[in-house]
Amino acid sequence: MAFPTTRPRRLRASAPRRALVREHQLRPEQLILPIFVSEVATEPEPVPALPGVFRYPLQGAVKTASEAKAAGLGGVILFGIPAHKDPRGSAAADPEGIVQETVRAIKAEVGELLVFADLCLCEYTDHGHCGLLSASGEVDNDATVEALAEVAASYAQAGVDFVAPSDMMDGRVGAIRSALDQEGYQGVGILAYAAKFASSFYGPFRTAANSAPAFGDRRSYQLDPANGREAIREALLDVEEGADIVMVKPALAYGDLIRAIHERTYLPVAAYNVSGEYAMVKAAAAAGAFEEREAVLEILTSLLRAGAQLVITYHALQAARWLTS
Ligand code: PBG
Repeated sequence: MAFPTTRPRRLRASAPRRALVREHQLRPEQLILPIFVSEVATEPEPVPALPGVFRYPLQGAVKTASEAKAAGLGGVILFGIPAHKDPRGSAAADPEGIVQETVRAIKAEVGELLVFADLCLCEYTDHGHCGLLSASGEVDNDATVEALAEVAASYAQAGVDFVAPSDMMDGRVGAIRSALDQEGYQGVGILAYAAKFASSFYGPFRTAANSAPAFGDRRSYQLDPANGREAIREALLDVEEGADIVMVKPALAYGDLIRAIHERTYLPVAAYNVSGEYAMVKAAAAAGAFEEREAVLEILTSLLRAGAQLVITYHALQAARWLTS
């Protein structure tokens, strides 16, 4: 049956009709807030490229986590900025490192809130790469995987709920799963940055975390933005190795892969709405291009429609407040 009998506008004719047939409804508990926690900051330091985002000292991070809990968010994900960097990123596995201490403090002071820890060496190495370097200056996959597994166990010991490896080394999810299990942390989950692309949209994050590579780029480990099939392959490998949740990153230019991975696995799929995507929205809203609230809720809802079940976003607190006000 076609027009004029069929009229799709019938279902859009009023707010109750639109509500009746709405396919996706964003909820605060689907959102995860990134928190930068710095061993050197003494007060919240604004990140110039990310309006509204700060590098917090430990107590500021705990306070932000309690706001996340009050807003009903799904959790927070911690990014550590250590006082000392070295070629091996050794501060990352320090049992008294900034992330470990923050996890303990949030667990002690905030109570029931899921805490994720980004698991990568780039904030801890003096060369800024996501792994250990071989004598010839290449990122050494297997040595890096071993180091990451050790860091994961120390985050688990501090009480983290999920570790989130963002390095893109081969075999790291499996190695992290074995290390966690061996140490008795069967309950700690892995949110794998499964399809993480070498993207210009991480620019603001690198200024916030002071983690830009000192030489070269990340293209020998992060995915080529031209490659969708390879991204699916990466995601399926992480599923096989024992990931609990697989993530696509960045989000906005990669909706096809959120959908493709959603269709090829029964694991929850996450999307990381990254720093550059946040910065674009902030800049466009400040320039009067659109209302920030409308644009943000549209973007986040579209990620659900693409197939994401949860979203990491710097807008998480704000969006949760918009959703419940
Ligand atoms: C660490 C890491 C990065 C991001 C998350 N974890 C930076 C990178 O890979 O260079 C980017 C997040 C963002 O841009 O919001 N490897």
